[in-house]
Amino acid sequence: MCGIVGYVGQQQAQGVVIEGLRRLEYRGYDSAGIALVHASEGRGALAADKRAGKLANLEKALDERPLPESSTGIGHTRWATHGAPNDRNAHPHLGAAGRLALVHNGIIENFAELRAELEQAGHELRSETDTEVAAHLLERELRDGADLTTAMQRICRRLAGAFTLVAVDAEDPDRVVAARRSSPLVVGLGEGENFLGSDVAAFIEHTREALELGQDQVVTLSRDDVSVTTFDGAPAEGTPYHVDWDLSAAEKDGHDWFMRKEIFEQPRAVADSLIGRRTPTGELHLDEVRLSDGDLRDIDKVIIIACGTSFYAGMVAKYAIEHWCRIPCEVELASEFRYRDPILTRETLVVAISQSGETADTLQAIRHARTQRSKVLAICNTNGSTIPRESDAVIYTHAGPEIGVASTKGFLTQLVACYLLALYLAQVKGTRYGDEITQVMNQLEQMPAHIQTVLEGAADVYALAQDYVDARSVLFLGRHAGFPVALEGALKLKELAYIHAEGFAAGELKHGPIALIEEGLPVWCVVPPRGRDQLHDKMVSGIQEVRARGARTICLAEAGDESITPYADALIRLPKVPVLLQPLVAAVPLQLFACELATLMGHDVDQPRNLAKSVTVE
Ligand code: F6R
Repeated sequence: MCGIVGYVGQQQAQGVVIEGLRRLEYRGYDSAGIALVHASEGRGALAADKRAGKLANLEKALDERPLPESSTGIGHTRWATHGAPNDRNAHPHLGAAGRLALVHNGIIENFAELRAELEQAGHELRSETDTEVAAHLLERELRDGADLTTAMQRICRRLAGAFTLVAVDAEDPDRVVAARRSSPLVVGLGEGENFLGSDVAAFIEHTREALELGQDQVVTLSRDDVSVTTFDGAPAEGTPYHVDWDLSAAEKDGHDWFMRKEIFEQPRAVADSLIGRRTPTGELHLDEVRLSDGDLRDIDKVIIIACGTSFYAGMVAKYAIEHWCRIPCEVELASEFRYRDPILTRETLVVAISQSGETADTLQAIRHARTQRSKVLAICNTNGSTIPRESDAVIYTHAGPEIGVASTKGFLTQLVACYLLALYLAQVKGTRYGDEITQVMNQLEQMPAHIQTVLEGAADVYALAQDYVDARSVLFLGRHAGFPVALEGALKLKELAYIHAEGFAAGELKHGPIALIEEGLPVWCVVPPRGRDQLHDKMVSGIQEVRARGARTICLAEAGDESITPYADALIRLPKVPVLLQPLVAAVPLQLFACELATLMGHDVDQPRNLAKSVTVE
């Protein structure tokens, strides 16, 4: 949610900043802007431009009227919170005298009172944003004699909320200063140059050495130095780390969309997320789980908290945890969690699932859980992000950077991490025998090949998308672990194709939603594998019921399941896998369908309207 870039070095800052913004545009694309510090008549001066809409609008303006040469700059790509997405509200915002430029991600919660204070002191604010208030406060500190670092420390002590701020001062041209509280910011460490970004994609082209910052810290960058302090000015240290992926991971690699590329990367992402999880003697081993076996044995309840697609991964996890570990598992939307006074004890394991590791709702939920002394384990794809840092333990997924706004490989790798966690708990608690765990691990290790098989049938799914390009509504039905898959299929379609889409537990249909069925309505049906229980047969009955009322059924069913053929208007085959693992293959055709349908409808698949990749505001 908002992408931020900062640069000081020897290259032309305009190019570095714009390239960084291009790689961060998935975080927000309501407007984009840049500010550079350059020399003018022997003194430092600011040059800035900002435009509503996508980065392309700013680039076009800069092509027509390039900014002066400079080697220090900041940039911003916005997901609007305060104020409409227009030129005036776009970042950077300048101080009253135009000496200071500031970009911001997050929300300054006490901005109204600060704004009133500034207006009383005669400041004229030009935008409706909370950010401009911080710009005026900063510049006032500079005017009163503080340097930019001190000014930043001082104003941060006055700000409430979650924020990342990055500023430049025309009178201090070789310095960029930033601050963070509960909002992402990483430093890129170069040779004779240094970078700032909301995530490492902003500078991965230039360096893979990064510095993770802690909470409530201010960082000052010059060409050759990076220094960190607390908001109180005390010296502090960031944590250096090496980024283990390179620029190619942040490129489309011949695909039309990042999302499509990421769908096709799923066999690799799932395989990578399984690597190194077994000891030579075959035991499951999760080295990032920094909770003792004793602590885990005492766990008597699991609560999973997450948002959106990650929440659906959590719903699948509930089936696995309750089945394999025989302990109750609740799944809760992070945005609702702390408002319902949840019952948490020291024996509750709270599992936070977040691809980005920065989702504000999830972060606030884990903070609440920790105040109740529950143990928190994060499942996360982003090294060094806030949620794993504030958790007691973490299982990292190894999807690589996910740039398409709609989550795909993030989801599949979260499922893998959930299965691993459930199996690990079963091993520690002794609720499953070692050979049962080994059997599931063997099945999991076959999943990349199964996902690959599904991807090889992509052309059939694309042909279906052609047939439904005029659909105004699509339903998705599933049962058991297929129910969250149905919800996920519907979410993908809503966010990418902007059409009405809903997922239902197939058994619920007759309790109301069946009234929605009308002639020609497309209904995707996730058919459970044939097994000992009656799940499969009940699903087949449900399919017959909707078809009898005129729906066009698109069935996802395992290879060899002929019972479904008479009732399927279209049939997509899935490899034969156990019911609990079926989401790993069943989600894939639904991702392909949404991606293709949105493409045919002419939508921007990677940057759907109104959305942003990491939702860092509540
Ligand atoms: C949907 C999607 C979102 C995210 C949700 C949580 O395609 O991507 O629903 O899943 O915003 O994000 P994370 O997992 O980063 O906490």
